[in-house]
Amino acid sequence: DWTADNIADEQIERIRAQVGTGKAICGLSGGVDSAVAAALVQRAIGDQLTCVFVNHGLLREGEAEQVEKDFVASTGAKLYIADERERFLTALDGVTDPETKRKIIGREFIRAFEAAEAAIIAEAASEGEPVKFLVQGTLYPDIVESGGGEGTSNIKSHHNVGGLPEDLQFELVEPLRTLFKDEVRAVGRELGLPEEIVGRQPFPGPGLGIRIIGAVNEERLSILRKADAIARAELTAAGLDDEVWQMPVVLLADVRSVGVQGDHRTYGHPIVLRPVSSEDAMTADWSHLPYDLLSKISNRITNEVDGVNRVVLDVTSKPPGTIEWE
Ligand code: XMP
Repeated sequence: DWTADNIADEQIERIRAQVGTGKAICGLSGGVDSAVAAALVQRAIGDQLTCVFVNHGLLREGEAEQVEKDFVASTGAKLYIADERERFLTALDGVTDPETKRKIIGREFIRAFEAAEAAIIAEAASEGEPVKFLVQGTLYPDIVESGGGEGTSNIKSHHNVGGLPEDLQFELVEPLRTLFKDEVRAVGRELGLPEEIVGRQPFPGPGLGIRIIGAVNEERLSILRKADAIARAELTAAGLDDEVWQMPVVLLADVRSVGVQGDHRTYGHPIVLRPVSSEDAMTADWSHLPYDLLSKISNRITNEVDGVNRVVLDVTSKPPGTIEWE
């Protein structure tokens, strides 16, 4: 029957059958999907796997450290780190269109990943066997929403599915492609991954790049990271992590409104809170968070984050609104 234990065992067997004695690489995004996929493959083939973390600079506060420290500590996986923050900022300079942002991030991600990969392949070949397999943390809903499933349309280009080059030189290993998010979490727990990774809410591959409405730059990223960290910390403190599927925090970087703080007039940006409840991200409801929690988040963000003078709540379900704003 369909328990996490069985799913894990079955996938580990499949991975072994597919990969044999070959070498594999796996990109870690900072999210639960790639962490669980990597942990499964690590369990199946050990050091034949090298994980790659491309730090694109679009992660939230503390997330790069979680990959670099917590993931490695709990799995013992080999990790190659590529600091590519400058590359992404340069490529995104001045870009405002959501799909263009996604395409640029996807494209630069592939380039950065290929550069990292080249180094790993060179090393692997010197040890006798080239890298032949690429591990992807693709879930069932990703496939459906990217137009890969039956009778579905392309809603948004998810770069972990649609952005792969045509001439891909690897065979894909996708141990999560029949699973929904809750099953992935259960498998992660089964494999002993720490709760901070397994319980982490879903976060899009293009990261904060699609949560800044307007062009992306370091100053805006810094504002958004601070606001997001406050919102997440307060949600956790209120004990509501399990009730809320995810809570995107969005910076309306091209919108400003008048405010007042002390005896100063301000002209700052709004932050949008987008807490949603969902089973699988295909449909969602806005979460009815307690008013005192919303007040606390609003007070803290407007007091502690320079440049933000207003916090607004998104009360739209999906459909018609998607979960992310871009
Ligand atoms: P939407 O905004 O389409 O999001 O309602 C559905 C779920 O997918 C996540 N999401 C992404 N995940 N790459 C990803 O890996 C992406 O480009 C992407 N865009 C959205 C979103 O956070 C939500 O969980």
